Amino acid sequence: MTFDPQIRRRRQLLDRLGDGVAIIPTAPERLRNRDAHYPYRFDSYFWYLSAFPEPEAVIVLVGGDAPQDLLFCRENDPEREVWDGFRYGPAAAAEIFGFAEACPLATLDKRLPELLANRHRLWHTLGHDAHWDRRAAAALNAVRAQSRNGTRAPREIHDLHALLDEMRLIKDAHEIELMRRAAAITDSGHRRAMHQCRPGVSEYHLEAELSHEFRRLGASGHAYTPIVAGGANACVLHYVDNDRPLVDGSLLLIDAGCELAGYAADVTRSFPVGGRFSGVQREVYEIVLAAQSAAIAALRPGAPFIAYHQAALRVLTQGLVDLRVLTGNVDDLIAQESYKPWYMHRTGHWLGLDVHDAGDYRFGSGDEDWTVLAPGMVLTVEPGLYFQASDATPVHLHGIGVRIEDDVLITADGGEAYTHAPKSIAAIEETMRHD
Ligand code: GLY
Ligand code: MN
Ligand code: MN
Repeated sequence: MTFDPQIRRRRQLLDRLGDGVAIIPTAPERLRNRDAHYPYRFDSYFWYLSAFPEPEAVIVLVGGDAPQDLLFCRENDPEREVWDGFRYGPAAAAEIFGFAEACPLATLDKRLPELLANRHRLWHTLGHDAHWDRRAAAALNAVRAQSRNGTRAPREIHDLHALLDEMRLIKDAHEIELMRRAAAITDSGHRRAMHQCRPGVSEYHLEAELSHEFRRLGASGHAYTPIVAGGANACVLHYVDNDRPLVDGSLLLIDAGCELAGYAADVTRSFPVGGRFSGVQREVYEIVLAAQSAAIAALRPGAPFIAYHQAALRVLTQGLVDLRVLTGNVDDLIAQESYKPWYMHRTGHWLGLDVHDAGDYRFGSGDEDWTVLAPGMVLTVEPGLYFQASDATPVHLHGIGVRIEDDVLITADGGEAYTHAPKSIAAIEETMRHD
């Protein structure tokens, strides 16, 4: 394996630092209860720049005339490695991951003031991690303390994530390849869940089918807590209990995506527990599907981020009129946000190392200030309709919740949906046939 993409990204970032020093720590290990830890997940920014998998590691980039990339990481420790597994150690880490230099993490607090001395700026994101805010401040103070012997401390502190978010918004070829693979594994999980679904099995049974398929195909697991929501549970947007039996005649909503090499897929499918859509379920499903098609068709380079949400809103609002949930003129209903009781979320978000990925959506409060789509951006398209039991909703719709979510790459030609789990009513019913 080579780490050329990560080396290239560090060079790109170094070019933008000017006479400054950037500190990029990975995530700490976190206790779950007593001495048991949560499964370890690296920091996405650190991973983007290194693919170095160990905790207790920090990248330091020194910009300017003689740019330098340094990695601080754990030393080899034969005794600890018997308990916790392999550690690269600084020498091998520098060699394999392509850093100019790697040093023991224990030397960081001594090295940082030396690296910051007589530099213009520190690149650090305040508020991201209180531990590193304190450590960066201590390093600055250590330089300031030397002012009487002529050493100058950085006067400017800049937000490093602002630079990295811009870079992460446009996926490179390596990232797109990984995201396509994450999508294929996720599609396979959804297909398997559809195939295994029948009245009487429980939501957790299908969660387990997804988990099994994701791991079996090499993903590290779920990119976020999966939603496996039967019947009216689908109307709870962040339902994660996944512990109820599935009932014939109701719909099931599954929102699940795997994580592969750090990259997320994010896919939702809604389908009938018994394998056949009823008349009213079909009506609602076709409206959401048409809203998704309209939204995907609105994606192209040069379009403002908000345009595909507006395209979905128009179809969903017309659908609510057709279902006799709303009455009136569609433009007025959209202007008054009358759709909100049944469609209360946005139509999508950036996708990448984080399921709700880094990157600005808007630069100001004006209508002109939305991020303009460009090739290499990846986002989700996930319209839905949710009919909680309420006086405002016709009774025959109660308990129906439908969302359809796919992942889309912006290309020179438009939007390429690259997740492909069964989606048309015919394809879903065919996948669910048990004969
Ligand atoms: N799975 C989280 C989302 O769809 O945004
Ligand atoms: Mn989702
Ligand atoms: Mn999503």
